[in-house]
Amino acid sequence: MYIRILGSAAGGGFPQWNCNCPNCTGVRTSSIRTSARTQSSIAVSADNKSWVLFNTSPDILSQLQSFDKLQPHRTIRDTAIVAILYVDAQIDHTTGLLMLREGCPHHIYCTDMVYQDLTTAFPIFSMLEHWGGNTIHTIACDGQSSFNIEKIEQLSFTAIHLDSKAPPYSLHRHNPHIGDNIGVFIKDNHSGKSLFYAPGLNVISDEVKSFMHQADCVLIDGTVWRDDELVKLKISNKLASDMGHLPQSGKGGMIEVLSDPKLNNSRKILIHINNTNPILNEDSEERKILIKNNIEVAYDGMDIEL
Ligand code: MLT
Ligand code: MN
Ligand code: ZN
Repeated sequence: MYIRILGSAAGGGFPQWNCNCPNCTGVRTSSIRTSARTQSSIAVSADNKSWVLFNTSPDILSQLQSFDKLQPHRTIRDTAIVAILYVDAQIDHTTGLLMLREGCPHHIYCTDMVYQDLTTAFPIFSMLEHWGGNTIHTIACDGQSSFNIEKIEQLSFTAIHLDSKAPPYSLHRHNPHIGDNIGVFIKDNHSGKSLFYAPGLNVISDEVKSFMHQADCVLIDGTVWRDDELVKLKISNKLASDMGHLPQSGKGGMIEVLSDPKLNNSRKILIHINNTNPILNEDSEERKILIKNNIEVAYDGMDIEL
């Protein structure tokens, strides 16, 4: 299985256009060791030819340009993307679909709740009816039923509900539903290798743990280092947990979760990293703690082969 990190930052990207936090200033002025990052998306393939796009970030056009395998130029209009899979309906994960309107209809896989958000409060699916619409496949997220995607049958996909948050704009932001956020377990049926992808989660349930333990690579929520990161920087009064993200540090944090001996043989990679997170600075103490714990930090253009 081939995994390409198209965008490794959380909403806003890195640097964020209106942000002067130490990291955003540091990357803008090249005064810290780091690299700029676009918003959260990956592409997955079994044969290096047909790709499933996970999420359509606002940065989609530059992400597609940055990865030439997505443009095989076989016909006058062409793409190697055979399907799009959404892990939630967040703006940083969905807006780019509007930029792909020339390619409608797309095969789109999402839960009923994501379908509902994208046809009501943020009706991009409905809008795109005017460009030929899309073929929407709604998926269960019970952690049991796996599904296949045409042209990429070598991979099987299992979605699992995650406790996180529906988008801020959602009609049910404060009334959580199963399917607002999912993690996806992807298994390559030839090699037997697997990936667990969960860029937004707050609670590590036993079910989440069991998928993590089965996976050869865990690509997981790396939004913030501290729960009160945005409060300390006077950016917001919201805690990470209010926004549906588990911080890396502290008791029960992601570092502790990833230190489980059952994950000793797996690659552990943080993704969806907010621009405020000190781990973006490669010389930071926090980054050193990750290295000590064998935890990697995703970057744009990173290739993972399993
Ligand atoms: C999140 O990951 O919590 C959201 O992308 C936040 C947002 O849309 O601003
Ligand atoms: Mn996000
Ligand atoms: Zn910033």
